[in-house]
This record gives sequence, structure tokens and C-alpha cells, in this order.
Amino acid sequence: MKLKINSQGLKGRLKVPGDKSISHRSIMFGSIAKGKTIIHDILRGEDVLSTIEAFRALGVEIEDDGQVITVHGQGISKLKEPEKALDMGNSGTSTRLLSGILAGLPFETTLFGDDSLSKRPMDRVATPLQMMGAEIVGQTDKVKLPMTIKGSAHLKAIDYVLPVASAQVKSAVIFAALQAEGLTKVVEKEKTRSHTEEMLVQFGGEITVSDKTILVPGGQKLIGQEVTVPGDISSAAFWLVAALVVENSELILENVGINETRTGILEVIQAMGGQLEIEQDEVAKAATLKVKASQLKGTEISGDLIPRLIDELPIIALLATQVEGKTIIRDAAELKVKETDRIAVVADALNSMGANIEPTDDGMIIQGGTKLHAPENAINTLGDHRIGMMVAIAALLVENGEIDLERAEAIQTSYPSFFDDLGKLSGNL
Ligand code: S3P
Repeated sequence: MKLKINSQGLKGRLKVPGDKSISHRSIMFGSIAKGKTIIHDILRGEDVLSTIEAFRALGVEIEDDGQVITVHGQGISKLKEPEKALDMGNSGTSTRLLSGILAGLPFETTLFGDDSLSKRPMDRVATPLQMMGAEIVGQTDKVKLPMTIKGSAHLKAIDYVLPVASAQVKSAVIFAALQAEGLTKVVEKEKTRSHTEEMLVQFGGEITVSDKTILVPGGQKLIGQEVTVPGDISSAAFWLVAALVVENSELILENVGINETRTGILEVIQAMGGQLEIEQDEVAKAATLKVKASQLKGTEISGDLIPRLIDELPIIALLATQVEGKTIIRDAAELKVKETDRIAVVADALNSMGANIEPTDDGMIIQGGTKLHAPENAINTLGDHRIGMMVAIAALLVENGEIDLERAEAIQTSYPSFFDDLGKLSGNL
């Protein structure tokens, strides 16, 4: 698709679409609980649709009346062997979390995905689930999709120190632990998003979290709930950055989820000197964010901040090209195993537009104050939704010429209404 977006400033108000991580988990918890789960404001992006289809194939009745989703859960033991292999599309979250559920079910399931997902490491979930007693065979000895999981009705609890900071791996072990005999202990090196732990409690489950140690007793039964999904801060991130860097912008973003394990980007914006107001809603963990075009300066982003903004690093890299001075991103080697190698792909895309980004082994060094121009060659998302949205926001800063964005449809993964919202907020309807 050709991108040429002129804007005199982004203006207006937007209710950002539902959080992807919470949407996946609401379907999963609803499917393994007993009783009805009603979900409001779910994200109907392709990744979440992959999760819905997977649970339908496992025998769960899931209705969508266009307003709410109703999951008719019958308890985890009622999930049944699917007739064919399950298509996980582009979704790492669907694949890894579902693996933890399948690990305790006494049948065989094969999972496969698209070209991007087929390159991503699955040994990180296979290893702990095998320790608990599941049989998992992948495409290579590093375990990639297609992967076959033969669950065991007699999973054993484990003590597991997560070798990588990954909420997906943590969640897979928690889902398996619910079905195991004994008490499972998971220790995180760095705290990652806590949605699985919080929703487990919401669905009537038992879990103890103290700092980075999580204890989950086995043999649990969950009860269906009514869930309202807050807006996705990872989607809001594109508008936050657009408003900060496009002159004369002023945006109000409503209902943005502000679970503290996800709010790293707000701290980066504040450290850079951005004009950002955060008004917390009275109930839910959501807030209204007010953001204005700002004079910004570079910062350092590293350590335990990284898991709290890992998905926002592509758009933060674009932000850093527009501030005064240098921004250094460290400790973010996990970026290399996302939907693409986001260190290389972000640096290549933005450098082809005139940015000055040095990719490093675990991050990027970004010189600010660069003027972006249309690149000579097309930019391909390589199937990575966040690369597509980053390039579209970068297009707002390009004065002359157009950007040829290939595989833009990847954006459907997490934000189907992205271009509608871009049109509205930038005055290009
Ligand atoms: C997610 C966890 C993160 C994140 C992904 C969603 C989740 O992945 O990047 O978009 O919902 O648990 P990792 O667990 O691989 O860090």
C-alpha cells in the first residue's frame, strides 16, 4: 500500500481497541472455567480470532453477537481432541499459552502457524512443559512449529526459574500448573505482564505472588466470569508517539489499560520531557491519557523497564529519531525473537528513511534530530504488525513523496481499525 499522509497535527479523542493480551486470556480462562463467561470490548484482531478458533476446535461453544462474546465453558477436562491441526496464524501468545493448557490434556494436538510464527522459538515453553510430563515434538531440536503436544493427565508440579523474561512462558507454566499434582513454583528474573495471574484470581483460582516468585497449587477448578477488556496501551503507543512528534497535535486517548507491568512507555515519555497527563479512571485499571506535541530529549531504556515496554520499542525507536540527543536501548535481545527480528527490521526501515540508528546485540543506539524522507525502496512488514504501524506513523513525518509499505495487512493482527483511526485523528478521512 502507498502511504502519503499529510497532517497539520493530530487532533481528537479515541477509545483505543481492546488489549490483545487480556483478550486472549479472557477466551482461554472462559474456555477452561465452568459456566458462562461474558466478554465486553474484546479485540477482534486476527491473533485473538486464532485463539477463538482454536478453542472452538477443542469443543468449546463461543458465540459472538457483535457486541459481547459468550464462552460456554464446561471445565478444562471437557476439552476434546481436535479433528485436525490447529492454525495459530501469526500469534505467539495463542501458541504458547495454549501449549500450557494442552500439556495436561490426554490427547495429541498439532499446532502450526504462518511463516513468521514458524521461525519463533517454542523450546522456551516445551522445556518446562516436558519437565512437568507432557510430550512435545517440534520441527527441529530447538522446537519450532509445527509442534505436536501429547498431554498427560498426570502432570507433576515443578520449580522453575524462567530463563527469559517472558509472560508467555510464565503463563504456559501457570496453565499447566493448574492441572498438575502439587505446588508449582515459577520464579521470574524480571517482572513481566501480570494478566494471567490477575485473571486467574478473577476466575476464582488460587495463586500467590510475592515479588518475582509465583506459587500455583494444582487441581484447580475455575468459574466463568464477566470480563471487560481495557484498551491496549501497546496500540495507544502509536498515537502517543504520533501526537508527541507531529507539530500542533493534541490527543485524548480513553480507556487505556495501565497495569503497572505495561506502563514503561509512559515513563519513557516522561523521562524525555513529553507533555502527558494521566487521569486514572475510578474503577478499572484504565486511564485517560492526554498528550501534546513536545520538545523531547534522549534517554536510556534498559534493565527491568524493558519487559514493561517490550512491544512498544519499535514505535519508541521512531520517537527517539525525533528528539534532541541520543537514546540508548539495552537489554532488549528478546526483540530478535518477536514477529520479526525487531532490532534489525526497525533499524533498516527507519535508516532507509534517513534515521541514524545503530543496531546492537541487545538494542539500538539512536541519534535524534533526524529528518525523515520517503525511502527509495519499498518497506516490507515481513508479517510484523508493529513494524507496519510504526512505518505508517513515520509517514506522518515525511513531507514529500510516499512510502510503499508491503504486507500492510499484517496490521490486522492487533489493530484492524488502525487506518480508520489514523484517518480520523490526522484529518485525512
Ligand atoms: C505477551 C507477552 C510478550 C509480548 C506479546 C504478548 C503476552 O511476549 O511481546 O506481544 O500476552 O503474554 P513474551 O512473553 O515473548 O515476552
